[in-house]
Amino acid sequence: MEFNLNNLLRENIKNLVPYSSARDEFKGEASVYLDANENSYGSPIATPFNRYPDPLQFAVKKRISEIKGVPPRNIFLGNGSDEAIDILFRAFCRPGIDNVITVPPTYGMYEVSANINDVAIKKVPLLPDYQLNLDEIAAAIDENTKLIFICSPNNPTANSINRDDIEAILANFNGLVVIDEAYINYSRQKTFIQELTEYSNLVVLQTLSKAWGLAGLRIGMAFASEEIIEIFNRVKPPYNINQASQQLALEALNNIDQVNAWIKETIYEREKLVSTLASLPTVVKIFPSDANFILVKTTDAKGIYNYLVERGIIVRDRSKVELCEGSLRITVGTPTENEKLIEALKSFAG
Ligand SMILES: Cc1ncc(COP(=O)(O)O)c(C=O)c1O
Repeated sequence: MEFNLNNLLRENIKNLVPYSSARDEFKGEASVYLDANENSYGSPIATPFNRYPDPLQFAVKKRISEIKGVPPRNIFLGNGSDEAIDILFRAFCRPGIDNVITVPPTYGMYEVSANINDVAIKKVPLLPDYQLNLDEIAAAIDENTKLIFICSPNNPTANSINRDDIEAILANFNGLVVIDEAYINYSRQKTFIQELTEYSNLVVLQTLSKAWGLAGLRIGMAFASEEIIEIFNRVKPPYNINQASQQLALEALNNIDQVNAWIKETIYEREKLVSTLASLPTVVKIFPSDANFILVKTTDAKGIYNYLVERGIIVRDRSKVELCEGSLRITVGTPTENEKLIEALKSFAG
């Protein structure tokens, strides 16, 4: 059977008449707006926010389009990529009937979103080298499998997933392949967003929360075919990206040089951290990182975690996660923060 988007869509979404906002119905410029029951007098703060924002965030998408080389019609913006993940479930997965595949250890929201939407999850663990188990994935797919989530670089293991393996799934799976590239700016691997014309079942997620330093604004991106983006837009809340976030994102997107400088510095600091950590007796193994964090296997994850907390340094204890036994996930900080971390780790007696 060929990939057919219409067959994947839930019946209620196929027939959905989306909410039509005042800003959808009149798109031009006018001098008097009395169509949206806003407060025409203003806002009780210095910057006015009394008007509803652009529902489709045209200015922000235009700038993202210029940076990414993907047309605005292939871009969806969500209240964080977490919103895009949730919309995928709501648009494509019938509660209690359909299922999705994840490849743990991986980002936790795929499973939480599946649970919220009452969608079964089939877990096909990564191989010990944190790559895909293609045979088991193929065996897990059934006629109700709608989505496969692949995070690359993967959280929490930090490695990129082999491109050939991802392409094999894209070429053979009739559901949507969701590639979460939240950490792509730190990766040696190429993004998949240039492959949208090649694969009609491809959805790439990226975010302004990581390299772009805007986690507090909550802006995630989904790149996909025009047909898939149209479905996202129908299902999303009308004004899902607020005006302040749109304005500030636009300002940030014009400051790409700063972001590129930070990416370079983060990668430099990552490599420095890796070589220093490698010399510590408490470190058993450092997994190769293509991200802004490192997964480190230690002699005593819980003990080290607590020791660091006492010194005001918080890392992520992943030691209870399958295939991450004994491991801590450490975000690369500023040079000063990294030095504090190393000093504290050196003083841990074990
Ligand atoms: C792999 C991955 N995807 C998505 C997200 C969430 O991104 P956002 O802040 O855009 O919701 C995270 C955040 O930690 C992540 O690690």
